[in-house]
Amino acid sequence: MNLVSIDKGKALLLSGEIIAIPTETVYGLGGWIYSEEGLKKIFSTKERPFFDPLIVHIDTIEKAKSLTSEWTDIHEVLAKNCWPGPLTLIAKKNDRVSNLITAGLDSVGLRCPNHQLTLNLLSRIDGGIAAPSANKFGKTSPTSSLHVHQEFGEVVPIIEGGSSEVGIESTVVGINGKKVEIFRPGFYTPSILRKILLENHLDVEVSYAESPVAPGQLKHHYMPKIPLIIVPEGVEIDLVKTKMTISFKKPIFWKQPSSAVIASRELYQKMREFDELGYDIIFAEKKSIHSSEEWAGIWNRLEKAKTLSLESEHS
Ligand code: TXA
Ligand code: MG
Repeated sequence: MNLVSIDKGKALLLSGEIIAIPTETVYGLGGWIYSEEGLKKIFSTKERPFFDPLIVHIDTIEKAKSLTSEWTDIHEVLAKNCWPGPLTLIAKKNDRVSNLITAGLDSVGLRCPNHQLTLNLLSRIDGGIAAPSANKFGKTSPTSSLHVHQEFGEVVPIIEGGSSEVGIESTVVGINGKKVEIFRPGFYTPSILRKILLENHLDVEVSYAESPVAPGQLKHHYMPKIPLIIVPEGVEIDLVKTKMTISFKKPIFWKQPSSAVIASRELYQKMREFDELGYDIIFAEKKSIHSSEEWAGIWNRLEKAKTLSLESEHS
C-alpha cells in the first residue's frame, strides 16, 4: 500500500497530485482547491462526470467563510454546533472557488471533517481540500485504507487513518432563505438540526428536499459488485425466490443490527465482505422500525445500491 505521512501528503497536494484522506464518514480522494491539475485528477481517477460537484474540506469556520460570498446565521449556528463533523453546508461561493469544484454552480459544499490527521493536514494548507469519496464513480464508498487500495492500487497515496467511525457520507444541507433542506440524509437528521437551530433562537423549518437540486444524486450509486434486493419485513423469502428471474447459488440474508449507529458504521464494509465471501446475491431486510429518521441515511444508500426491485419481480 502506498501510505504517506501528513508532510508528504501536503507536498503532494501542493504539487498537483491527489491523495486519499481519512475522515469520520468515508475516505476522500483529495486535491488542493488551488491546483487545477489536482482537481482534474480527482475526476479522471474516479471516472466521475464533471457535472457532479465536489465538497471542499476545511478545518475552521474562518476558512469556510473565506470561500463564500454569503454566510448566514443558519450557516454559523450549524457550523458552530456540528463541526468538526458529518455535515456539509452549501453556501454561495466566491471567486476563490473554481468552477471545476462546483460544476459551474454558484454554490459550494463545505465540510469540516472530524478526523485528527486530516484536520492537522488541513491546518497546514491554504484554502482547503476538495474531496469526493475515494471510490470509482457509482461504486461502494471506502471506510478504510484497504478499501481505497483495493479500488485504486498504488496510484493513489493514502494517509492511514483507521476505520471511519460514522461509515456513511455526511448529511448535505442547502440553506434557502429561512429554510434548511436536506439533499443527502446522514448522521444529522432533520430533528437534530431543527433542535440545534431552535436552541439558538432560529425557528427554521428543516425538511428533505423534494427534488434534490444536488447534481450527482443519481438513482444508482454505492453499488456493490453483486446484486442487492430489498425485502420488506414479513415477506416470505421462499416466495421471493420463486418470483426471481435471475439465478443465484449463494444468497446472503442481511439483517441490520438494532443500532443505526452501528449499522451505518458497518454498511459499506458488509457490502464488500459479502462479495469477498463468495455470496452472489444480497437480500437486505427492511423492517418497519427502519422508517424512522435515524435510519434514513442508511436506507437512502441501500435504495441506491439495489440492483433489482422486488416490485418489478412481482409484476
Ligand atoms: O462525508 C462526505 O461528505 C464525504 C467525505 C469524503 O467528506 N464526501 C462525499 O463526497 O461524500 P461526494 O462527492 O461523494 O458527495 C458529495 C455530494 C454530492 O451528492 C454532490 O451532489 C453534493 O455533495 N454537492 C456538492 N456540492 C454541492 C453544491 N454546491 N450544491 C448541491 N450539492 C452539492
Ligand atoms: Mg460518493
